[in-house]
Amino acid sequence: MTGETPHPGDPPPVLELRSVDKVLVDPEPAHLVREVSLVFRPGEFTAILGPSGCGKSSLLYLMGLLDRPTRGEVLFAGEATRDLGEGHRTRLRLTRLGFIFQFHFLLPELTAEANVALPMERLGRLTRREASTRARNLLDRLGLAGLSGRRPDRMSGGQRQRVAIARALANDPAILLCDEPTGNLDTTNTAVVIAEFQRLAHEEGRAIICVTHDAGVAEAADRRIRMLEHDSFRWNRNLSF
Ligand SMILES: Nc1ncnc2c1ncn2[C@@H]1O[C@H](COP(=O)(O)OP(=O)(O)OP(=O)(O)O)[C@@H](O)[C@H]1O
Ligand SMILES: [Mg+2]
Repeated sequence: MTGETPHPGDPPPVLELRSVDKVLVDPEPAHLVREVSLVFRPGEFTAILGPSGCGKSSLLYLMGLLDRPTRGEVLFAGEATRDLGEGHRTRLRLTRLGFIFQFHFLLPELTAEANVALPMERLGRLTRREASTRARNLLDRLGLAGLSGRRPDRMSGGQRQRVAIARALANDPAILLCDEPTGNLDTTNTAVVIAEFQRLAHEEGRAIICVTHDAGVAEAADRRIRMLEHDSFRWNRNLSF
C-alpha cells in the first residue's frame, strides 16, 4: 500500500482511494488493481502511466464509479461510495465527474450542441434553452463557436475530441477522468488538449486525472503516477522519466 503525506495548506481531496483492490474470479482469477491508495486535490493535473494491461483503465472505472472495488474504498469529497445504491452513484457520476475517452463516443446523429447538452438534460437542472446556451458557450470556449450545429461525423478528430471535452464539462464537474484522450490525435491537436487540461486545472480548479501513453501529456502534468506490470501500484508525486 502507498500513502501520501499532506502538506500544510493543501485543499481537501476531491477524490481519494484507500487500499483499493479489484479482483476478478470469473472466468479465471485476475488481480486487476492492487492495493492502490491515492489522493487527488482540486487544481491538480495528474498523469497516470504504465504498460498496456497493467490496470490503468480498470483503475479509472473504479474512480469513475463504473465499477466497485473488491476491497478498499473510493471517496468523493470525503464521502465513501462503495456501499451506495446505484441511483446515488449515478447521480455522483453525473454531477461530480466528466469522462473523456480515446474514442469520443459522441452520438453521430446529434449536432455538437445537442451532444454537449445531453448530460445537462439528463441531470435536469437547466431548462432546454439554458442547456443549449451553456452548450454553445462551452463549445465556443473550446474554439468551436462555428461548429455547434455540425454533426461530429462531419468533423476532424481534433474537433470531435474538443466536443467530447465540452460534453465532459457539461455539468461543471470537479473531476475529469480521461483515458488516453489524445490517443487518436496529431501533435497539434494534442497540444490543444494539453493546454485545455492545464487551464481547467490551474484556472478553474478542477482535478484532471489522465491515463496516457503520450510523453508530452505526461510532461505537461503536475504529477505523474506510474503503474507497474506484475507489481503493486507505485506512485511518486513528481516522478521523472
Ligand atoms: N472484464 C475482464 N475480465 C478479465 N480480465 C480483464 C477484464 N478487464 C480487464 N482485464 C485484464 O485486466 C488487466 C488490466 O486491464 P486494463 O484494461 O485495466 O489495462 P490498461 O492498463 O488500461 O491497458 P491499456 O494501456 O492497453 O489500455 C489486463 O491484463 C486485462 O486483460
Ligand atoms: Mg486502458
